[in-house]
Amino acid sequence: MSDAQQSDDPPLFYDRHIFFCTNARPEGHPRGSCAAKGSVKLRDYMKARAKELGIKGVRVNSAGCLDRCELGPTLVIYPEGVWYRCATREDVDRVLEAHVRDGGRVPDLMLRPGDDPEKAK
Ligand code: FES
Repeated sequence: MSDAQQSDDPPLFYDRHIFFCTNARPEGHPRGSCAAKGSVKLRDYMKARAKELGIKGVRVNSAGCLDRCELGPTLVIYPEGVWYRCATREDVDRVLEAHVRDGGRVPDLMLRPGDDPEKAK
């Protein structure tokens, strides 16, 4: 549980703010990159799909490297601070519908602290 929000903070500007890593690295870089795994198109899709689904109060932004490159394509949703790996349009749909629209979670796509980068390969 986070104690980041203080009682006298202003209200949230967005209900949910999504940071989708679109960082690119040169081919052959040992850490790879989310862009090399299709994150730019997936970010574009997420923005368009959120609109299509009529989800209000959500902002999908491009992010630079979130430093979990091996597990990518990565995104993180605030204010919850929940991370996901979204590698396909279907993954994006599931996160948008279950988490962002319905307030649930998608456990099998969720990244947890200490996740092993080797598992994502
Ligand atoms: S390149 Fe996406 S987390 Fe580093």
